Amino acid sequence: MSVTRENDPAALRAAMVVSLRNQGLLHDEDVARALSVVPRHLFAPGETDLKRVYDTHTTLEAVHFADGRQSSVVSASHIQAIQLEMAGIEPGMRVLEIGSGGYNAALIAELVGPTGSVTSVDIDEGVVDRARACLNEAGYSQVNVVLADAEHGVPAHAPYDRILVTVGAFDIPPAWFEQLTDNGLLVVPLRFSGITRLITFGRTGDILTASNYRLAAFVPMQGDGAATEQLIQLTDDIGLVVDPQHKADFNLAALREALHRPPVDLWAGTPFDMPDELALFQLTTGGPGMVMLRAAQKAVDEGLVDPAVRHGMPVLVQGGSFAYRIKRKSDNQPGGYEAGVRAHGSDAEKVGQQMLQLIRAWGTDHFYRGAASITYYPAEADTAGLTGWRSEKPHGTLAVSWS
Ligand SMILES: C[S@@+](CC[C@H](N)C(=O)[O-])C[C@H]1O[C@@H](n2cnc3c(N)ncnc32)[C@H](O)[C@@H]1O
Repeated sequence: MSVTRENDPAALRAAMVVSLRNQGLLHDEDVARALSVVPRHLFAPGETDLKRVYDTHTTLEAVHFADGRQSSVVSASHIQAIQLEMAGIEPGMRVLEIGSGGYNAALIAELVGPTGSVTSVDIDEGVVDRARACLNEAGYSQVNVVLADAEHGVPAHAPYDRILVTVGAFDIPPAWFEQLTDNGLLVVPLRFSGITRLITFGRTGDILTASNYRLAAFVPMQGDGAATEQLIQLTDDIGLVVDPQHKADFNLAALREALHRPPVDLWAGTPFDMPDELALFQLTTGGPGMVMLRAAQKAVDEGLVDPAVRHGMPVLVQGGSFAYRIKRKSDNQPGGYEAGVRAHGSDAEKVGQQMLQLIRAWGTDHFYRGAASITYYPAEADTAGLTGWRSEKPHGTLAVSWS
């Protein structure tokens, strides 16, 4: 077969890097160089379509468990680029990757260079064996690939200047804190209130303070740190998603009835933009009635919920009434859309107005990326002066505030 742009890994790799840059997902020259040299296709031996391998948004070899959970072998390259940039890895650093595949560990090995060290840990023996074999074949045999439950870190190679978690964590176990150097950074997709935010944490004394965060989706953590969000079904196709520790007390019969009644739509007169930032604001300022609403396509097709609910949407629930954010086209708003609220139930107007107030408050006071202050307090840290939203986790307290 002759080598063309479609089947030449080097050409496809170069195109992947250009594409990531063009999408605004890659800025760092060192990360770009790593992505340009590591042969991603050697970490996906079962995958014959090289265009898929080098597509920026394709996850390779997703594994589906019988209970509906998902895991994967190699994450999409845009996620890896984003996370590596957030981590700011420098030559000579010691790095722990939690969740292996091999490819990302090879990228990290390029970034730390010959004087650094990379440890990659996975709970799945098959993943570990494969990662080790692929790393050896691609020329990265210096990476320590460890079979273990990362809930306990990997003390044998600690301390780490960077810990990169590549699986959705519900909490920050003490081992990660203990195995991080004083100036180290922990980049973790943290799950709370039914959402995930990829967060960069550094130490401030005995607590962890976020320097940045962004939207992300990762498969959930297994093992000792596994936690499952509660799905409270309103119908077969519509449910509320709340944290495992959430003391759910919803009037489901009334909410079901409200769902089938015509809604009230209210409009904010403000632009619709950055829904991920607005969702974080709603969930961390809206009180205990603010949870996530999720729906299957069938419920959208039946006209029961707005199509955006398919991907999850904060909903304010009060008694038998509820309200969530919608949008409509508008030539008068920057970005071409106006934000609004759809409310159901006997108190639709009241709960809808409350939601509108939140949307307007965010639009007025926090309308920029990264407006939230996110802090994690390990169990032994002092939380006495803590105000604002907090979530009690098994090993500590997550706090989010807006100033
Ligand atoms: C998204 S994949 C990792 C992808 C890889 N880091 C990459 O960038 O290509 C998530 C991995 O996390 C692993 N995992 C899940 N829970 C774990 C745990 N408690 N300890 C270690 N690994 C875990 C899964 O077995 C799976 O291989």
